[in-house]
Amino acid sequence: MNIIETMNLSFRYGGSATYSLKDVTLSIKRGEFVGIVGSSGSGKSTFCLTLNGIIPHSIHGEFSGDVWVDGMNTKEHSVAELSKVVGLVFQNPDSQLFNMTVLEEVAFALENLGVEREEMWRRIKWALKLVGLWEKREEFPPNLSGGEKQRLAIASVLVMKPKVLVLDEPTSQLDPVGKESVLGLVKLLNKEEKITVLLVEHNTEFLLENADRIVVFDKGRVVMEGKPEEVFEEVERLEEVGVRIPARVKLGYELKRRGLADRAVLSSEEIVKILRIAGNVRT
Ligand SMILES: Nc1ncnc2c1ncn2[C@@H]1O[C@H](COP(=O)(O)OP(=O)(O)O)[C@@H](O)[C@H]1O
Ligand SMILES: [Mg+2]
Repeated sequence: MNIIETMNLSFRYGGSATYSLKDVTLSIKRGEFVGIVGSSGSGKSTFCLTLNGIIPHSIHGEFSGDVWVDGMNTKEHSVAELSKVVGLVFQNPDSQLFNMTVLEEVAFALENLGVEREEMWRRIKWALKLVGLWEKREEFPPNLSGGEKQRLAIASVLVMKPKVLVLDEPTSQLDPVGKESVLGLVKLLNKEEKITVLLVEHNTEFLLENADRIVVFDKGRVVMEGKPEEVFEEVERLEEVGVRIPARVKLGYELKRRGLADRAVLSSEEIVKILRIAGNVRT
């Protein structure tokens, strides 16, 4: 069975005239790395909030259809139960940190879970080492850099041992170094720790290189999905729905438009080769 299934999922926030999600039917396989893209207001965050039950349990509105995570229908399980399977990480790390030290921050998540002390320690050490903050365990979280804060927020979710990590634009408020450290960590968690990842991210270069699948939202609907090289080939459709085209694909698209390539998604080697043949690069 797939780790996440949604069937005809629709949601309208209370008081809103339009649907923020409409007929979303998606299956996410165990271990998959899914990149989620779409313009602002297309429903990406709303979709994330349905995956651990915050919608419909904490945010009310008109909800229809079904979401199953690891076989549990979100309508029949609490946010606390669902959060053991699906860890959610948001844009702003400051809004997710409340404790006096890095260590306490991570321990806090486990305190109400009834995990025994030895297991608690094992998990805390594992999570902090994984995100590269074990050496900073006694520091005051507000003193960390943006990238470190976001990695701490990820560690606080990891101690729950979730099977799925959902990250909603985790790098949008970080500097380039912070962005890179968080994306590198997300990649590691998927590839080495085998955690299923759903990543909402505007860095489509990263998604093209690393995601197994791309899902495109527009006006609350999934309008495209497929392998990165298939989805990014549709340059014009992506531009219509406001998705950033990866630099490599922009160049490939230009070559294709001039009849120099048969595809827009080309490897860097292919681009160099085409440019050489076209005589635009002296070697
Ligand atoms: N709490 C809310 N109440 C009412 N409408 C909301 C709320 N949050 C989001 N929306 C609306 O739902 C739609 C989808 O928003 P959102 O899921 O945040 O999109 P995205 O994350 O892709 O930018 C937008 O039209 C937005 O205005
Ligand atoms: Mg959003």
